[in-house]
Amino acid sequence: MKAVIEPFGKEIEIKENETILSSMINAGLSVPASCGGNGSCGRCMVILVDGCVFPPAEIPSFVFACQTKPETGIRIKIPLSSHIHSR
Ligand code: FES
Repeated sequence: MKAVIEPFGKEIEIKENETILSSMINAGLSVPASCGGNGSCGRCMVILVDGCVFPPAEIPSFVFACQTKPETGIRIKIPLSSHIHSR
């Protein structure tokens, strides 16, 4: 499955059962996941703008990239206040 990441305009591949966070890290994005991906720091927050995920989320809504797995191709947006960077 593909994920398009705005505003970088970057398209990444997400494997089945992979979280958005691990696929972003594997694709070379810098994500300050200070809790190690256990869902407690909130620093991996992204905005889901298109696609279906698990656990289910409305479009648009904020989701924790470390806790969310795509079920279809998705489009996400990195919030302006985020510390997530494209390398
Ligand atoms: S990495 Fe900490 S909440 Fe997702």
